[in-house]
Amino acid sequence: MSSTLFPKVTVVGAGFVGATTAERIVEKGLANVVLVDVVEGMPQGKALDMMESAPIEGFGTTIVGTNSYEETKDSDIVVITAGLARKPGMSRDDLQAKNAEIVSGIVKEVASRSPKAILIVVTNPLDIMTYLAWKKSGFDRKRVIGMAGVLDSARYRYFLSLELKCAPHEVEAVVLGGHGDLMVAVPESSTYQGKPVTQLLPKEKIDAINKRTQDGGIEIVNLLKTGSAYYAPSSSAVSMVDAILKDSGKVLPCCVYLNGEYGIKEMYCGVPVSLGREGVKKVVELKLSAESQAALKKSAEHVREQVMKLNL
Ligand code: NAI
Ligand code: 2OP
Repeated sequence: MSSTLFPKVTVVGAGFVGATTAERIVEKGLANVVLVDVVEGMPQGKALDMMESAPIEGFGTTIVGTNSYEETKDSDIVVITAGLARKPGMSRDDLQAKNAEIVSGIVKEVASRSPKAILIVVTNPLDIMTYLAWKKSGFDRKRVIGMAGVLDSARYRYFLSLELKCAPHEVEAVVLGGHGDLMVAVPESSTYQGKPVTQLLPKEKIDAINKRTQDGGIEIVNLLKTGSAYYAPSSSAVSMVDAILKDSGKVLPCCVYLNGEYGIKEMYCGVPVSLGREGVKKVVELKLSAESQAALKKSAEHVREQVMKLNL
């Protein structure tokens, strides 16, 4: 296929998450990519390096690196990964002030050049940066979506598979709420071979797995010491790009604006949604236990408190 026929995805931030996201998109042949970063030469160098892998990998999509926004014009999707990442001892909320400045500036640049784009926010603290991007873009809420639930659920699926002694993809699992310490792993909606894991594993094991999932980000930070996770985060962002570009309607847990769904009003929070070319097609309302519903509300309230600090 001629490369001009592919959709266009801009990835802002060519660091660990951004570069890996860009690589996965072009290698899967999903879209042509524009990779933007403030560091001179770095996105250009990474893009050139990736293009030099095209003859070997066999992809027909293209990637260009740049320090300006001119090339991003008329993007179908903009993935925002720019900002500071966590170091040991830092919470996601510690990143708030600096990353708010960065994300606001980026949204201004991309929203004017790609007014019909769907924004996928990855920068932490995720729920707050997604709310900020929605406010600053002026876009419909369906077109501003945060990536966290796919990652948190993937971690949950993997940890459950270790206990169930099966392949990770055989486990279906849901993690809801904000992307922070109060995220809500939902064992009653998580299944292996159609059976809820609550029927397959003892409560103490499930509680320990839920805790490991909540601490999934910091577990990697403590091992890497100089940055945070990027392989699973980039896979997660690309699964959202894939569902949107293919208009697949796939249901994925994403950070979206809620207006009454799950009893949460006028706030961004992680819940399952169906994704397609218009962004969020539908919020899927799961039947939750009273315990999970209360935990979800608490998590959303924490996001609301942090959003208030932005003084928007
Ligand atoms: P990184 O430090 O490797 O990359 C960040 C990049 O952003 C750097 O290359 C930097 O030059 C660039 N940047 C900074 N200001 C910019 C600006 N104004 N315009 C364009 N580029 C700019 O960090 P990494 O590991 O890629 O993480 C990126 C962000 O994603 C962090 O905030 C991190 O916490 C977050 N994250 C979120 C996850 C989630 O589940 N939502 C998962 C993993 C990371
Ligand atoms: C993660 O969960 C740091 O939010 C990032 O890995």
